[in-house]
Amino acid sequence: MQPINVFEYEELARQRLHPALWNNYSAGANDEVTLRENRAAFERLQLRPRMLVDVSHIDLRTTLLGTPVAMPIGVAPSGPVDGAAREEGECATARAAGALGALMIANTGSARPLEDIAGAATGPLWFQLYFSSRTRTRAEWLVQRAEKAGYQAIVVTVDSPVFGYKDRSERTEDWFDWPPLGNLIDAPPTDDGSEEDNNGAAITWADIEWLRTVTRLPLVLKGVLTEGDARLGVEHGVAGIVVSNHGGRQLDTVAASIDALPEVVDAVAGQCEVYLDGGVRRGTDVLKALALGARAVFVGRPVLWGLAVSGAEGAQHVLELLRDELELAMALAGRPTLTSIDVSLVRSTPRHRTS
Ligand SMILES: Cc1cc2nc3c(=O)[nH]c(=O)nc-3n(C[C@H](O)[C@H](O)[C@H](O)COP(=O)(O)O)c2cc1C
Repeated sequence: MQPINVFEYEELARQRLHPALWNNYSAGANDEVTLRENRAAFERLQLRPRMLVDVSHIDLRTTLLGTPVAMPIGVAPSGPVDGAAREEGECATARAAGALGALMIANTGSARPLEDIAGAATGPLWFQLYFSSRTRTRAEWLVQRAEKAGYQAIVVTVDSPVFGYKDRSERTEDWFDWPPLGNLIDAPPTDDGSEEDNNGAAITWADIEWLRTVTRLPLVLKGVLTEGDARLGVEHGVAGIVVSNHGGRQLDTVAASIDALPEVVDAVAGQCEVYLDGGVRRGTDVLKALALGARAVFVGRPVLWGLAVSGAEGAQHVLELLRDELELAMALAGRPTLTSIDVSLVRSTPRHRTS
């Protein structure tokens, strides 16, 4: 029987995946307070629908940094892709997103090289970059490849100078045969000759400045949670910010993404686009994020679950479920277009300043 919501995909993926990979996917950092908050905060927010509005035509189309997309729901960078999509890897994700006109962010750590992913894609792609001042040569090499392959923005993940400690998956990490990173075959060594993975504790705003000088692509910062960093991002010329706590996987006890969103939206005051990821599992979650000022949301784990269960088809179905739920929620809320969704749609709480 085909799953009827994202949570059913979660359960099927759990049954299907190697337990070590399952632990890795589902883990948050430490006590998983933020992981739980990502869901709880969405559930706490109440909607304030308007009645007697003509909702016979719902329009989900928008643009992300000028690129048209069919819906304000895209794919967050995450992996490794496994289960039914193991062979095809991230190319399956690209096919699923493309079939729906949704944007995909491919990650530095993908199993398939970014060129293969671009070859499989029929929709827009952004490239997520891990780098530091010690891996600038490698970063430039990756960015140039991404430009050449047709990626339309570089998404720098800024919440991972080091990786968070995931207690839930710590003891089982070695049980799984992790795929090699397709993007890093023949990669240039680190600039200082150090043994290093792709991110590094040394990344600072100076690296963002430097990155701007080596690419013509717009930069998006992923992992901003506070107004101070949002303002600095604008000052450093970024085109977009993803409000994200990395799916609760980095610093535990930070705010849920949806709770951090209003602060960032206020701080940037329209000077760059703002997106959200973390805990989006229902169309109403998407609606709430849009109401609080996100231009789009990205989903991480749900797409991995869909891929695990039935490959590209499963990932596409997960995105379709979210899209259809969003459409339904917009109709029931009396908001037939994205521009009709505003802050008055969510009930005022001390943390969310609403009208
Ligand atoms: C298994 C897994 C791997 C991830 N890998 C990356 C990554 O390589 N780069 C990155 O920027 N974010 C990574 N993320 C974070 C996602 O991009 C995203 O921020 C998060 O999954 C959103 O929360 P959600 O899973 O609740 O939708 C990963 C998340 C998961 C669950």
